[in-house]
Amino acid sequence: MKIINGKKIAEKIRMEIKTEVARMIDADDKTPHLAAIIVGEDPASQTYVAGKEKACKSVGITSSVYKLPENTTEKELLELIEFLNNDAEVDGFIVQLPLPGHISEEKIIQSIDPSKDVDGFHPVNLGRMLSGLPSYLPATPYGIVQLLDRSKIETEGKHCVVLGRSNIVGTPISILLSRKANPGNCTVTICHSKTKDIGKIAATADILIAAIGQAEFVKADMVKKDAVVIDVGIHRIPSDKTKSGFRLIGDVKFDEVSKKCSHITPVPGGVGPMTITSLLQNTLKACKKEIYG
Ligand code: GUN
Repeated sequence: MKIINGKKIAEKIRMEIKTEVARMIDADDKTPHLAAIIVGEDPASQTYVAGKEKACKSVGITSSVYKLPENTTEKELLELIEFLNNDAEVDGFIVQLPLPGHISEEKIIQSIDPSKDVDGFHPVNLGRMLSGLPSYLPATPYGIVQLLDRSKIETEGKHCVVLGRSNIVGTPISILLSRKANPGNCTVTICHSKTKDIGKIAATADILIAAIGQAEFVKADMVKKDAVVIDVGIHRIPSDKTKSGFRLIGDVKFDEVSKKCSHITPVPGGVGPMTITSLLQNTLKACKKEIYG
C-alpha cells in the first residue's frame, strides 16, 4: 500500500508557483493578487482564509482579505464584489462559504466576474468545464486530479465511484474524471444519500472518491482489494492524545481500509494541502490571463 503524500506534492507545486511568480516579478510583470471576502465569524472559515493568506505569502502572491461583519447586507456584499470585479489590481477573488443565512449564496456567486472567479463556482466556469473549454477548476477536484496525475495512477478505463454529489466536490470531480483526458477516461458512478446499496457499489470501484461528509463512513468491506482511495473528508474529533485536544479524521476508516487498498490519501496531509495549492494555481492563471485571454 502506498500513501499518496498530498503535503509533499503540494509543496512541489508551490515551489513551481514560487519560481514562476519570482520570474514574473523579475520581468516587471504584474505580481499576482488574490483577494478573499469573509462574512461573519465562522471559525472554520477563518482558519481556511488564514491558510490561504499564509499560502499566498509563501509563494509571493499578494493577498488581501475583506472581513465583513455577520450583519452585512446582501446589497453591501454585492457592492464590494462589484468593486473587486472592476479593481485591476486584483486578479482573482473568492467569497468564503458558507455565508450567513440572510444572504443568497447563489446570487453572490453569480455576481462574480467569471474571469476573476478563481474558485470556479460561477455557472459560466462550471458550464465551460462541462463543455471542455478552458475554465477555472474548483480547487478540491482540481487538486484530486493533480494528485492522481503526479502519483502516476492510471485512470483510463477504470471504474471510479464518487461518494457525494456536492457542487464543490462530488459533481465536478465526476465530470473531470469522465472527460476524454488524462487523468480521465473513467467510467464514473456517483452515489449519494438516496443511493441503494452504497457499500456494494463502492466495493466495485477501482478508484473510490469519498466526499460524503461523514466521519469514517467508508469501511474495509466497502473497498475492493487494490483500489485507489481518495479521502476528501475532514472532521475534527476530540482527542486526549494531542495538545490541541482534537485530531482530524476523514470519510474513510483509514486503519482498516489502508490494509486493503493499493493507494490512499491520509487525513490530514492528503487532499487538504492540494486544495489551497489549486487556488494559487488558478490565481496565477488569472494573472496571466490564461483562461479568458
Ligand atoms: N468553503 C469551504 N471550501 C471553500 C472553498 O473552496 N471556497 C470557498 N469560497 N468557500 C469554501
